[in-house]
Amino acid sequence: MTKKITVIRGDGIGPEIMDATLHVLEALGAGLSYEEVDAGLVALEKHGELLPQATLDSIRRNGVALKSPLTTPVGEGFSSINVALRRHFDLYANVRPAKSFPNTRSRFPSGVDLITVRENTEGAYIGEGQAISEDGEVATLTQKITRKGSERIVRYAFDLARATGRKKVTAVHKANILKTTSGLFLKVAREVATQYPEIEFNEMIVDNTCMQLVMRPEQFDIIVTTNLFGDIISDLCAGLVGGLGLAPGANIGKDAAIFEAVHGSAPDIAGKGIANPCALLLGAAQMLDHIGQPQNAERLRKAIIATLEARDSLTPDLGGTGTTMGFAKAIASRV
Ligand code: NAI
Ligand code: MG
Repeated sequence: MTKKITVIRGDGIGPEIMDATLHVLEALGAGLSYEEVDAGLVALEKHGELLPQATLDSIRRNGVALKSPLTTPVGEGFSSINVALRRHFDLYANVRPAKSFPNTRSRFPSGVDLITVRENTEGAYIGEGQAISEDGEVATLTQKITRKGSERIVRYAFDLARATGRKKVTAVHKANILKTTSGLFLKVAREVATQYPEIEFNEMIVDNTCMQLVMRPEQFDIIVTTNLFGDIISDLCAGLVGGLGLAPGANIGKDAAIFEAVHGSAPDIAGKGIANPCALLLGAAQMLDHIGQPQNAERLRKAIIATLEARDSLTPDLGGTGTTMGFAKAIASRV
């Protein structure tokens, strides 16, 4: 049976890395069909809006989307399309794996294999109650953490550990200082942890976590944390394993999930055919896991690793001279 996926080709390097990704998915024989819809700058030009209703309808219908980066125009009245999508579909779990790959410029060519599970819908990050006094001297912001929001994200992290055979969940917080908000998150995390006795539970203060990640990243397995801490920590983790060209992310809710690369539309290299397609490909691997095709996900990841190991057709960001499609073909030949 073919599973239908919403495909958003996006802006800048988006169409190039999407072509490359769909080429590899074809070689995998994953039995997918695609419904292409627009979002971002290209949608603004074609339909007069950044996030057309038809795009939202498609994601709701199919429940799964593979999305290239979108350019949010700079200027008054434009807010992030990615944030809008997360909010619209209540995509509460932002799941970002970081795993060492061979032949990258990473300082940790082996030993890192962790997943950051970031709460995606509440906390300081969403900018609730932002205000600035009339004289411009005082700025304020409300930070709201709920039991429901904390419980579902911590549960997601433990369920992910169970499903993937991972052994440890670390809750990252600042409850020593932010006693109410971070305190509630930590309290709920401790409660949920008791329901998963076979999985080790660990708690760590966020500033120490940053140092530990840089000094000894191999000690981490799954990290679960609130929105703003997760935003920062997951980029730190991408940096541990070779940077943006290799960092995928999933935004997962009850009724829909969107899989993407973490990087943006890279206008500086758009149209040149040299963007690294790996981040979106790894996002596609997360998508295959999500739709019940873990074997295909594993085949895809192994083909990427084998291609990196062989240094076959690598793009310039990885020190090669290859093209986006050439790299994709090298990966496709190994699936
Ligand atoms: P960016 O991630 O697009 O680029 C940063 C640097 O990394 C650039 O030098 C770029 O060439 C390089 N780079 C990024 N992806 C690459 C790849 N696959 N292969 C090789 N090199 C790569 O970040 P920037 O420049 O801050 O943002 C550009 C646009 O992207 C903005 O309009 C921003 O709003 C949008 N953006 C969209 C995101 C999304 O849709 N998920 C996420 C981040 C930014
Ligand atoms: Mg970020």
